[in-house]
Amino acid sequence: MQDVISIKDFDRADIEKVLENAKIMEGYTKGTGILEAKILATLFFEPSTRTRLSFESAMNRLGGTVIGFSESGSSSVAKGETLQDTVRIAEQYADIIVVRHPRDGAARLAAEVAQVPIINAGDGVNQHPTQTLLDLYTIKKALNTIDGLRIGLMGDLKYGRTVHSLAYALSWYDVALQFLSPPGLEMPVHIREDLTEKEISFQQVEELEDLKVDVLYVTRIQKERFPDVEEYEKVKGSYQITKESLEFLGGAKILHPLPRVDEIDPEIDSTHNALYFQQAGSGIPVRMALLASLLGWEP
Ligand code: CP
Repeated sequence: MQDVISIKDFDRADIEKVLENAKIMEGYTKGTGILEAKILATLFFEPSTRTRLSFESAMNRLGGTVIGFSESGSSSVAKGETLQDTVRIAEQYADIIVVRHPRDGAARLAAEVAQVPIINAGDGVNQHPTQTLLDLYTIKKALNTIDGLRIGLMGDLKYGRTVHSLAYALSWYDVALQFLSPPGLEMPVHIREDLTEKEISFQQVEELEDLKVDVLYVTRIQKERFPDVEEYEKVKGSYQITKESLEFLGGAKILHPLPRVDEIDPEIDSTHNALYFQQAGSGIPVRMALLASLLGWEP
């Protein structure tokens, strides 16, 4: 694989290979020279904490170095430079590029003009493939399997690129999906149709209490994605996982790509259900595995 643009470009064997390589990378997190003298460029046109910092940390641990920007206003994009030109310039200075952009399809566009590998760190409401790979890694590490699980996807399923990518990846596994979202923020029809085509069991539930899951993947209602802030106001705070929720969630593991706003009460953090901080930590071995593989490393 030359680039990581969409999880739809991965089949089950590809996904499993990344998860296996990430497990190997756990042994290198104290530092290695696998990517010595290699340079990563991080082009972030949207805010990020986890994705950017974990890519940077991953590259440093692999012995490489990092250049880039975390807001486009500090780059020549502010002077009107296009994404294509920005990428063409970054590849003069770096061996691999990670791009986050507010526009759907931006990572694909970058890959079309780049001669070096491009990794999609989130493009609009479309895809966040590396998040999905670390989500799967976290689930498998905690529960030893993905097959056979009942997995709930909750929150903003319309604009949530993490749940879009995750739904596609899970379609390679023997899982039963449950969707819970405020009215108007349901999983897009085209994704539900694709799941049906792959004979993946999914069900839309109406209330938090209706969820019967082994894993609950919670997402934030993303104010910044709403064309009309009044529409956001109608659905904000629709669901909140509290200690009372554990009565019906039982031992279900709770994941969240983060950041959270109010959808998971901090009192959950210290419970055995909470997996979201370990999930963020999985970004290191998984992104180390991706960077190394794309730059020619083999186990
Ligand atoms: N999960 C995730 O993409 O977080 P950031 O927006 O902080 O990178």
